[in-house]
Amino acid sequence: MKNINPTKTQAWQALEAHFAAHGKMQLKDLFAKDAQRFDKFSLTFGGDILVDYSKNLITEETLKLLIALAKETDLRSAIDAMFNGDKINMTEGRSVLHVALRNRSDRPIESDGKDVMPEVNAVLAKMKGFCEKVISGEWKGYTGKAIQHVVNIGIGGSDLGPVMITEALRPYKNHLQMHFVSNVDGTHIAETLKKIDPETTLFLVASKTFTTQETMTNALTARDWFIKSAGDKAHVAKHFAALSTNGKAVAEFGIDTNNMFEFWDWVGGRYSSWSAIGMPIALSVGFENFEALLQGAFEMDMHFATASYEQNVPVLLALIGLWYNNFYGAESEAILPYDQYMHRFPAYFQQGNMESNGKYVDRDGNPVDYQTGPIIWGEPGTNGQHAFYQLIHQGTKLIPCDFLAPAISHNPLGDHHPKLLANFFAQTEALAFGKSKEQVEAEFLAAGKTLEQVKDLVPFKVFEGNRPTNSILFKQLTPKTLGSLIAMYEHKIFVQGAIWNIFSFDQWGVELGKQLANQILPELGTAGAITSHDSSTNGLINTWKAWKA
Ligand code: F6P
Repeated sequence: MKNINPTKTQAWQALEAHFAAHGKMQLKDLFAKDAQRFDKFSLTFGGDILVDYSKNLITEETLKLLIALAKETDLRSAIDAMFNGDKINMTEGRSVLHVALRNRSDRPIESDGKDVMPEVNAVLAKMKGFCEKVISGEWKGYTGKAIQHVVNIGIGGSDLGPVMITEALRPYKNHLQMHFVSNVDGTHIAETLKKIDPETTLFLVASKTFTTQETMTNALTARDWFIKSAGDKAHVAKHFAALSTNGKAVAEFGIDTNNMFEFWDWVGGRYSSWSAIGMPIALSVGFENFEALLQGAFEMDMHFATASYEQNVPVLLALIGLWYNNFYGAESEAILPYDQYMHRFPAYFQQGNMESNGKYVDRDGNPVDYQTGPIIWGEPGTNGQHAFYQLIHQGTKLIPCDFLAPAISHNPLGDHHPKLLANFFAQTEALAFGKSKEQVEAEFLAAGKTLEQVKDLVPFKVFEGNRPTNSILFKQLTPKTLGSLIAMYEHKIFVQGAIWNIFSFDQWGVELGKQLANQILPELGTAGAITSHDSSTNGLINTWKAWKA
């Protein structure tokens, strides 16, 4: 990967000039001028995902310049470096090979000169065998009963992906009841333990490092609760499995390493759902569906690695996002799935994007003087429409939005789906084209009002429009399509990080809070007032000490 300051490239200067000349372009003019705009600015992927990026503040020239930026910053060598297993996570000295986890071609992929595919496939085969036993009921608990409940204990990348994907794939669910415990707040595990039965519960302790405070605390509480019922520690073997890279810590915890499903340090936590961390997904929907998820991601990987930038969905989405982030000054991006099953999709990509590209130091170790990763947020439509869309339509901030929807619902009840999709289509149209003063006045006149009567109201009813969106319409939310959509966003994040010249695969920014919490924890158990911190932190701790008693 080459370290190139993107703002020092010719393409960036050209984009600045282009923005100065055309930044105020209007979507209504762009569409009026070109009847082919949708055809020119949309792509289909695999015949069942349509990505319409025509409602963006871009022209062919804008895209040409953005692609020139990708070339000048040598995106190609970054893509090749990732797929070749180079140690592009330099601050941790690691390869970045989530693409190997879903490499369905078995093309050798090397990390440290060793093909990782045999190990990847061996763990997948072990997962398959385990899933089949648990789902079929062959795997018995300590009293001879089959497993009914699966509790995944993990946080961050060891939780969000499995939660999001098992929710998204609910239509494919089997009889196993899935539970997810992440928060160190005792309420989370306490409420979960109320719903389960130790005789029929399998706990998955999911942690790449197997040292994460939240996960280890919840896992110990779960183990104590289990042993209290089961009596004998030996029964832990039938009820606890580990998903981790840290065999030593797993053994020390008391989990039989036969029940450990391994992954490797070249899998980033927020990119790990494709690894053994995906076990709760495979248990919930069956291993075949898990493989379909991998297949969907693999197909997106191949597209990303080989398609020209002009035809490359993740590259185009990344470049368009960068255009708003760095030239229009947009601070955030909304992800708005019009699919209730995808309700955790925005939260998943909050971690995926913000932990990856929330960096102010470039790959040379210098502070950047340009914007990097955006704030990601969102909720499913139509709920969002009745909550925060007001600001997107008429607020003072530019919020580029991705709208996602399935053409076919898994629940075709009455006219629910046409109504949902009518809203999906209407929102991007309203955001793009708005409603002019003249239209507002004409509506009032048609309703029998005089302009004199309504003139004070007109300004409030005007929609400026010109709010950019991508529309991602897919046939149905299947495991394969979901795999492709996730990989599409992963690669979008990758492209942006590569161009911004930052390291997208470390997360040092989460460490300080963890360290301080470890320092503060013993102080909470001592008698007397604390004076070791600033006055605010001391004041908060000491008030807590006074109140907790
Ligand atoms: O605190 C951030 C983080 O390191 C994430 O990157 C990671 O997904 C999460 O913690 C959980 O880590 P682990 O899987 O090692 O428990």
